[in-house]
Amino acid sequence: MSEFTIERVKTGIPGLDELIEGGFPKGDTILVAGKAGTGKSILATQFLYNGAVTYDEAGVLVTLEEAPKMIRRNMLRFGMDLKKLEEEGKLAVVDLSPSKEATPVTIGEYPSFDLSGLEAIIMNHVKKLGAKRIVLDTLSIMAYKFKSRDILREEFFKLAAHLTDEGRTLVLTSEIPEQHDGLGVFDIEAFLASGVIVLYNEKISETSRSRSIEVLKLRGSQHSSRIHSMRITEDGIRVFPGEIGSG
Ligand SMILES: Nc1ncnc2c1ncn2[C@@H]1O[C@H](COP(=O)(O)OP(=O)(O)OP(=O)(O)O)[C@@H](O)[C@H]1O
Ligand SMILES: [Mg+2]
Repeated sequence: MSEFTIERVKTGIPGLDELIEGGFPKGDTILVAGKAGTGKSILATQFLYNGAVTYDEAGVLVTLEEAPKMIRRNMLRFGMDLKKLEEEGKLAVVDLSPSKEATPVTIGEYPSFDLSGLEAIIMNHVKKLGAKRIVLDTLSIMAYKFKSRDILREEFFKLAAHLTDEGRTLVLTSEIPEQHDGLGVFDIEAFLASGVIVLYNEKISETSRSRSIEVLKLRGSQHSSRIHSMRITEDGIRVFPGEIGSG
């Protein structure tokens, strides 16, 4: 490999890697943004699943929204058995969802917003598994709570920098509100990330919607600049590089 080649982390999501020169740049922070129900959690979880099953890279899924048992159940529909991977030590699901009765970590409230407790918990799992892939689903939930954008930005930046140390690749998800165009509100997450992927599920007629995916930015990569069709099939997310979708 030449010294000019960026090492890639394959997502293994059918059709996606070929849009991004083979995968995410190793050690980067990638943001997966989209409105509700566009497939952000599935895509992020599939990235971890493929890492563990196909690429021998353990992963940590930090869930701040959905309860782990719902995630396991939903992914099993795609034939992805997370429980098995957890038992094999290839995946850890860190439950920070509201469904959890006793939250194992407190995130300091404004003005003393502090993510070091969260970082310690995640790093504990990362070390145990030797994880190379981390997903935080979703940052939006924290972003809503805190008023100071400056502190938030600084804390998120530190967290992402520490998590991606030693070549770990981090995927963050962020929800774009229904009435919102573009990524404006998500400047913080987008600022953190060296890559931004946007998922759509747009109404194309009175009676139907169509899913698509756009690589908005990916530093150091000559990525596709088109919006491509995407489907959620019985095997999970599949991207169709040859089909142009509408965003
Ligand atoms: N087995 C399945 N087959 C086909 N489509 C499915 C299946 N399971 C879920 N979906 C679709 O995927 C959507 C949920 O995907 P996902 O949870 O990844 O969305 P999200 O972008 O994370 O949403 P949110 O913002 O609410 O967290 C569902 O609304 C549904 O349209
Ligand atoms: Mg989700």
